[in-house]
Amino acid sequence: EQLAGTGTDLQNKKILITAGPTREPIDPVRFISNRSSGKMGYALAEAAVERGGEVILISGPTSLPRPAGLYKYVAVETTLEMQEQVLKFFSWCDVVIKAAAVADFRPKNYSEQKIKKKDEGLVLELEKNPDILKELGEKKEKQILVGFAAETEDIQKNALEKLNRKNLDLVVVNDVTVEGAGFGVDTNIVKIIHRNGEIEELPKMTKKEVAHAILDRVVQYLRN
Ligand code: CTP
Ligand code: CA
Repeated sequence: EQLAGTGTDLQNKKILITAGPTREPIDPVRFISNRSSGKMGYALAEAAVERGGEVILISGPTSLPRPAGLYKYVAVETTLEMQEQVLKFFSWCDVVIKAAAVADFRPKNYSEQKIKKKDEGLVLELEKNPDILKELGEKKEKQILVGFAAETEDIQKNALEKLNRKNLDLVVVNDVTVEGAGFGVDTNIVKIIHRNGEIEELPKMTKKEVAHAILDRVVQYLRN
């Protein structure tokens, strides 16, 4: 049994991690986004590097320092840019962990000029973004696929449904309404749901500890 972070159990393994929010521009000064800080994804990237992995981090805008020792860092802004980069590297990798909080919708029409305020309100029309992880689930060959699920209700049922719909090996479930879990904070309280329906409830841990716990499971899947 090796201590978390001191091993080389991901040596020669190619790991793609997405992190942070995506951002969908409305006009030159405005965008739609979400509360993701990127901390969970960056902790995963650091943990995977510590364990000897070759790590590509594809990141939306965050204020975090770039982790040391990455094989590659790719900065993206929109969901479509993230999709393009993820697909570019998908066949290269052994493991994909999608910690990014991907914007599900984007403004249908981008305004080249700053939208001026008027007396009446503003109706913004949104169109659906592609589901990147679902696409990976359809394309997957050897890859271990790990998704996240941010939920506020029917946590387990919704997460299991995502695992099945997206053809995942593991889904990491965040109840984002609980203090000490989810957005912005350094700790997380998660459940890990496996393909076979097994559910593990982890205690409150730092995001780095959660990252190693996830990678422990990934290593098991890579061995089998
Ligand atoms: N995801 C993705 N592409 C999207 C939306 C989500 O790749 N367009 C990924 C996320 O990175 C995450 C997982 O899918 O790993 C689940 O994201 P989540 O927002 O919880 O689920 P959705 O499928 O978008 O469903 P909903 O937001 O309606 O709960
Ligand atoms: Ca979503």
